[in-house]
Amino acid sequence: MISLLTPQSTSKSSTSHVESEQIITGISCAYGDFIPMMATQLQVNCINLFDVAEIQLAQAKKKIEKVDQLNRFNLFLSNAENIALTNNSTNSSVLFYLLHELPAEARTNTLNEVMRITKSGGRVLIADYAPLSSKHWFHRFKLFRYVFEKMEPCLANFWRCDLHAELKQSAQVHGKNVKLMHQTLIWHKFYQVSEYSIN
Ligand SMILES: C[S@@+](CC[C@H](N)C(=O)[O-])C[C@H]1O[C@@H](n2cnc3c(N)ncnc32)[C@H](O)[C@@H]1O
Repeated sequence: MISLLTPQSTSKSSTSHVESEQIITGISCAYGDFIPMMATQLQVNCINLFDVAEIQLAQAKKKIEKVDQLNRFNLFLSNAENIALTNNSTNSSVLFYLLHELPAEARTNTLNEVMRITKSGGRVLIADYAPLSSKHWFHRFKLFRYVFEKMEPCLANFWRCDLHAELKQSAQVHGKNVKLMHQTLIWHKFYQVSEYSIN
């Protein structure tokens, strides 16, 4: 499983040594236990959570209150395209099933913001739909594609975009580089969890 914590970039001897002060930024809320799970990482001293919907933040708050006694969460009602954090202020940025919900231009603006706030030596974690392939039934058959694209109006574009190229371009805007470190394809390549390092 991919850890949310970034190793200390200055340490030559050990990559398992983790920076003692970690800041994680979640760009959009997630259903299930993903948000409260962030609070189980004790090295994390601050978790920023941005979402455009008040109701999603309210739900996240209820879950967080049960697990986070240290008050490490900051919740922001905010569009992902305009994140109120300073440059290079977060170790890990997490995008959990957000990108497929955004029109192409909003996706670009969001990725630009992610690259702006994530520091060198940090990471970007993306969980979302995997690109279209010739293998998965839901990809191969027009009817299935039609149903998914009807339910998720921006998915058609996201399925066909070159996410790696887009991340690279956004990183360049901020004088940074991005490298795919790890990718897990789930359910016969229908979903992906991708970890990028930023330098
Ligand atoms: C559908 S949820 C993701 C949940 C995911 N499907 C899961 O299973 O956990 C997507 C989240 O993105 C948020 N969102 C959508 N557009 C956004 C934007 N432009 N800026 C910030 N948050 C956004 C929604 O409010 C929602 O909380």
